[in-house]
Amino acid sequence: MEILNRLRGMKDILPKEVDLWKKIESVFIETSELFGFKEIRIPIMENKFLFERGIGANTDIVMKEMYEFKDKKGREIALRPEGTASVVRAYIENKIYNVDKISRLYYYGPMFRYDRPQKGRYRQFYQFGVEILGGRHPYFDGEVIQILDISFKKLEIENYIFLVNSLGCEICKVKYIKEIKEYLIFKVSSLCNDCKIRADKNPLRIFDCKNLSCQDVIKDAPSIIEFLCDNCKHHFDILIDFLSKFNIQFKIKPTLVRGLDYYTKTVFEVFVEKENTAIAGGGRYDNLVKEIGGPDIPAVGFAAGIDRIVPLIKNKDIERKEAIRFIFLGERAKMKGIEIMKKFVEEKIIVDADYEERSLSEHLRIANKLGKKWCIILGDNEIEKDIILLKNMENGFQIELNVKEAITKIKEIIKC
Ligand code: HAM
Repeated sequence: MEILNRLRGMKDILPKEVDLWKKIESVFIETSELFGFKEIRIPIMENKFLFERGIGANTDIVMKEMYEFKDKKGREIALRPEGTASVVRAYIENKIYNVDKISRLYYYGPMFRYDRPQKGRYRQFYQFGVEILGGRHPYFDGEVIQILDISFKKLEIENYIFLVNSLGCEICKVKYIKEIKEYLIFKVSSLCNDCKIRADKNPLRIFDCKNLSCQDVIKDAPSIIEFLCDNCKHHFDILIDFLSKFNIQFKIKPTLVRGLDYYTKTVFEVFVEKENTAIAGGGRYDNLVKEIGGPDIPAVGFAAGIDRIVPLIKNKDIERKEAIRFIFLGERAKMKGIEIMKKFVEEKIIVDADYEERSLSEHLRIANKLGKKWCIILGDNEIEKDIILLKNMENGFQIELNVKEAITKIKEIIKC
């Protein structure tokens, strides 16, 4: 029969890899919780118009990469391509702003983008993200960047750098867009077909285009930093001081615009040059809550791409408590053995058993192959004597113990 494989751009995270994923997740969770963030769990599917309105109808994410379908009632649904729009929707819908002036929220889970799969680019990928809603001060921007920096240091990630920029507010952005449009007037013919449209509709997107001729056109464009109004400039300067104060490695990149339209003022990415990849990105989005139908509340956040972080972890050996393998010889031993196993589990000792009928030598051969360090053997002989046999698989040493003694001994060995 034909084997049904996973879909293109999707991947399985196998049991031997999951511990590393959990370690990364727990570092982000622990760091965020230390800064007072609380978890929010948002749905995987949303009304597709949430993303059109939130991320921007002219972005690649919405125009080209969204998984969209109609449900049985004909409603337009999308699999979430990111978490920010959903968090903002939940924030407004549940009136979280009535509970706290400043809401610090984090989320973790799969996101979906129908992009061309390649190294580090998947159609289902995992993001850990934080959002602070309700704060206008640049220290909020600094705080989210700091959470990333602390987490990456805890994970011993090397050679990463924060690329930072400011996109300004509506006032400076409008002035800058006008300037860029003028700059592009006589250069449009050298742009790719997509950027020819962008030049009029959304010229900042051209900075993001991977096409070499577009990059060539845009590289000498005026820098947005020069167009920032006093307020936006002040915001940016304070953030830069914050990053310097905490020795966070950063570089100002005036061409950084990001692929989502909701940003105002600060934008940033965490870039690993050696891998030519961004492992996190974020920024401030002071208008999004209002644009999605909520009150006028500013916000800032980031999302880190866990799939891209996993290959960067040097120490992949994660200590894992090995299960004690139970070997039963005969039905009577199994009946007694399952009661003993439950006692072990109640003592928080990890167990596993092979209930299939096999000879002792075959059981031991399998346990060896699995790399088991300790086995508990139970047959008719042991049941008669009301004991179990504890066997060290590395040196062959074995000892008869009653259940209570066995639990104490094993707890001593595995230090739990
Ligand atoms: P983003 O830059 O689109 O931002 O995604 C954040 C991170 O997710 C990227 O830096 C990358 O590590 C990872 N990522 C994105 N697409 C893929 C993919 N196809 N395969 C693997 N990893 C990927 C956002 O999503 C914003 N919501 C971030 C944000 C939060 N801004 C404010 N708050």
